[in-house]
Amino acid sequence: MRSWVHQAIARIEADFQRSADTHLIRLELPALPGIDFYLKDESTHPTGSLKHRLARSLFLYGLCNGRIGEETTVIEASSGSTAVSEAYFARLLGLRFIAVMPRGTSREKIDQIRFYQGDCHLIDHADIYGEAERLARELNGHYMDQFTHAERATDWRGNNNIADSIFAQMACERYPEPEWLVMSAGTGGTSATLGRYLRYRRKASRLCVADPENSVFLDYYQSGDRGVTADRGSRIEGIGRPRVEPSFIASVIDRMMRVPDAASIATIRYLETLLNRRVGGSTGTNVFAAFRLMAEMHEAGIEGSVVTLICDGGERYRNSYYNDDWLSHNGLELQPWLDRLDDFYHSGRWTGAD
Ligand SMILES: Cc1ncc(COP(=O)(O)O)c(C=O)c1O
Repeated sequence: MRSWVHQAIARIEADFQRSADTHLIRLELPALPGIDFYLKDESTHPTGSLKHRLARSLFLYGLCNGRIGEETTVIEASSGSTAVSEAYFARLLGLRFIAVMPRGTSREKIDQIRFYQGDCHLIDHADIYGEAERLARELNGHYMDQFTHAERATDWRGNNNIADSIFAQMACERYPEPEWLVMSAGTGGTSATLGRYLRYRRKASRLCVADPENSVFLDYYQSGDRGVTADRGSRIEGIGRPRVEPSFIASVIDRMMRVPDAASIATIRYLETLLNRRVGGSTGTNVFAAFRLMAEMHEAGIEGSVVTLICDGGERYRNSYYNDDWLSHNGLELQPWLDRLDDFYHSGRWTGAD
């Protein structure tokens, strides 16, 4: 058993050694000459999202805690991206993997999980957690439980975590210590890592977390009530949860902002014209919040930098965010937001209350 675990860890380390870090892209905003904006492009991991980092950490955590062995079936509750990355690592270690996901999960993600030889267990109700736990009991497997373990499986002090990587890549920039880091929350693991790292490394940068509709993270942040729930799921895949996930650490967040779903999707459509590429919905939520913060900085005469994440690429959302029929079926009207974004791009100012 121990020798298999040693080999498994060596395989993950060798895979890491073969991997490159992700790019930090600078996006020019000519109307804001005193503000530099950067996007950490997590879509370029081998499995296409920021969840590649988490999946690596969760497997190491499970292996080093003695919970994953040669015969273990690994089970996860996921909105899709984590499961794609975990399926990759399960295949690397020769383990069976089952993803428990909502039936509405995008076809592209399901196909990718299957590509890595993972099984998809799609359910009609919202309780992906309970079903994953039940399945793990039934199969005597290991429930990975990203929503609980994301914040503790990642080494927040450094060790090439995402915060460490961002600050290393910012070292030669005009404003190496950002005014704001901006992220959204699914498990809350990434925002926990960023917020803890800022304190540990004694940085002045502040952390803003953007929350989509149908998510209770912002309500909890304002009320302190951990028991708050929502009865509908988020339409922005990967972020926004109907319960306060254990990995969501409100005390390291300096500010939160609600971002309407239509605004997130309008932002990725607008970004396509600036970046010449497509990104996922949660990136739209991040960038919308970042734009609003930059407009505030501009108005207050504050110069500096702002960093956010491209969480995944847009190819997974061809049939949703990039499909006009899907938008009208969901009652999402983008034009007012596109006008506001264009106005911001050309003037540096924000119009309207949202
Ligand atoms: C596409 C996408 N964006 C953002 C997130 C949020 O990251 P975290 O779980 O670290 O809060 C996720 C998490 O699943 C995701 O899949």
